[in-house]
Amino acid sequence: MTEASERYLADQVAVVTGASSGLGQACAVALARRGASVAVNYHHDADGAAQTVRRCEEAGARAFAFQADVSDEDGVKALFAETVDTYATVDILVANAGLQKDARFTDLTLKDWNTVIGVNLTGAFLCMQEAVRQFRRQGMRHSRALGKIIAMSSVHDVIPWAGHVNYAASKGGLSLLVKSAAQELAEEKIRVNAIAPGAIATAINKSVWSDPAQMEALKKLMPYGRIGQPEDIGEAAAWMASDMADYMVGHTMVVDGGMELYPEFRDNG
Ligand code: BGC
Repeated sequence: MTEASERYLADQVAVVTGASSGLGQACAVALARRGASVAVNYHHDADGAAQTVRRCEEAGARAFAFQADVSDEDGVKALFAETVDTYATVDILVANAGLQKDARFTDLTLKDWNTVIGVNLTGAFLCMQEAVRQFRRQGMRHSRALGKIIAMSSVHDVIPWAGHVNYAASKGGLSLLVKSAAQELAEEKIRVNAIAPGAIATAINKSVWSDPAQMEALKKLMPYGRIGQPEDIGEAAAWMASDMADYMVGHTMVVDGGMELYPEFRDNG
């Protein structure tokens, strides 16, 4: 358990989307360890969300689970309304919900294009809007910022990804959504930033890391020599949400074991 002196998010409330597993769960738990109360949003995995709530409570924080599809405006409004009813404020948003629907370019259906853009990009937009509205309603609280928004991007906001154009397009879009919103909102002391994880062992890429041959190939893309763990991202999110990161505005923090360093070029002449 984190030392009391490290509970630097005490009296703050976080909404974490897609928090029933993986990066979202790790962010929720990391924020809870720093004392934040957490609204654990999930789409379909109620058991996973209940586990996240338990882990937050074990960390000494308050948490509740709430089902909502982030690509649905009414669902997002209900998520924020319930959070404010329960904990009175929202100080931190981790817009994490995201998914992949992979296909070769000409096999990619419009439905799967729309689903991925809808959740990864539009979902983040809708949650960010609601968060900003709530930050304004409640005014300055226990932080140097009026509110903090962290969007979960990916190294594929800059690394092109064949076979995943919907996903890469959503993350590339997210990157400029974050920077443009940050530029617009900074004067109100709202900090909008993103985290760009590399390969982190979660359900989204299990088919890759659970297969030894594919894992070997993946390791060549990670100079640091290991796949990331969800906690690597959770810790980054907790820091970004804190006043220690108060001067970080409109930035995408890459947490990827070196994947964005073009490791293929290492032995190239
Ligand atoms: C994707 C993972 C992938 C990683 C590195 C992430 O954004 O969701 O499936 O392993 O990028 O390519």
